[in-house]
Amino acid sequence: MLAAAASASAPALADGEVNIYSYRQPFLIQPLLDAFTQETGVKANVIFADKGLGERIAAEGENSPADVLLTVDIGRLDGAKQLGITQPVVSDVVNGNIPAQFRDPEGHWVGLTNRARIIYASKDRVQQDTITYEELADPKWRGKICTRSGQHVYTIGLIASMIAQHGEAKTEEWLAGVRDNLAHKPTGNDRAQVKSIFAGECDIAIGNTYYMGKMETNDKEPEQKEWAKSVRILFPNAEDRGTHVNIAGIVLAKHAPNKDNAVKLIEFLSSGNAQHIYAETNFEYPVTPGVEVSERVKSWGELKPDTVSLAEVAKHRKTASELVDKVGFDNGPSS
Ligand SMILES: [Fe+2]
Repeated sequence: MLAAAASASAPALADGEVNIYSYRQPFLIQPLLDAFTQETGVKANVIFADKGLGERIAAEGENSPADVLLTVDIGRLDGAKQLGITQPVVSDVVNGNIPAQFRDPEGHWVGLTNRARIIYASKDRVQQDTITYEELADPKWRGKICTRSGQHVYTIGLIASMIAQHGEAKTEEWLAGVRDNLAHKPTGNDRAQVKSIFAGECDIAIGNTYYMGKMETNDKEPEQKEWAKSVRILFPNAEDRGTHVNIAGIVLAKHAPNKDNAVKLIEFLSSGNAQHIYAETNFEYPVTPGVEVSERVKSWGELKPDTVSLAEVAKHRKTASELVDKVGFDNGPSS
């Protein structure tokens, strides 16, 4: 359907087109795509879905019209590579723009924005200004922590980063400690955890930074503004290795029919200006140090990202998932 629609409109555009499969909502990327088309003359076609796009590209095989796939989380980006639907992005521009820790060493995925996995802390009930992930296992937090499922990709990324830092055995011990400090069984999404703090069910919660922006500006569900007001963000490990960050990123499809335009698009999105716009739209951080952060995001405090490479984190995802089951994390506190 996309191919038909695209070829129907192709003659009007001398510079061709690029087909984007996107897990990211159209409003997040449209301003950038418009700028890309203006700069290059290349028409950008978007297919949005919230699941199944990687499998669709795999099923379409050599006939897939997909040139790139936009998605979030190292789990899903590396998953695309494992699924065999990617090819390396070979570009000095991209390699110059994006720090190595946020790119696949073989070029199969490229990070464009960062999200930090931080602590939402009750303004009323938490006095301290600093925190570490390690500390979440301290008995002083017994019954006070809320989080979503241990098997969610966001949690797996964090646990995998702990394995990268401390090894499997210590991470297992830590995870069991965190489990024992949970207020109740992991349930709900990141915003639901902040709601639980607002409701007094827990004092701290693990969540991604951009949800603060989504709650603070939520005119459709203004009660979320109240949830946001009840918490502040603590950036874990700000005083040592830095806070765990994950990425939203892009892959080049293995059988991209418009490969040159796809690389052009990835190069465009990797520029500092594009990172800034993309990050600002979803309250994220540009991946390149020095690229401007939006005022709202800045107001939450300073992010010092962990310097571990996400390729290294990806290697530990499977073990992380096994540990979640082994300690029965999703069953909640044992006592
Ligand atoms: Fe999210």
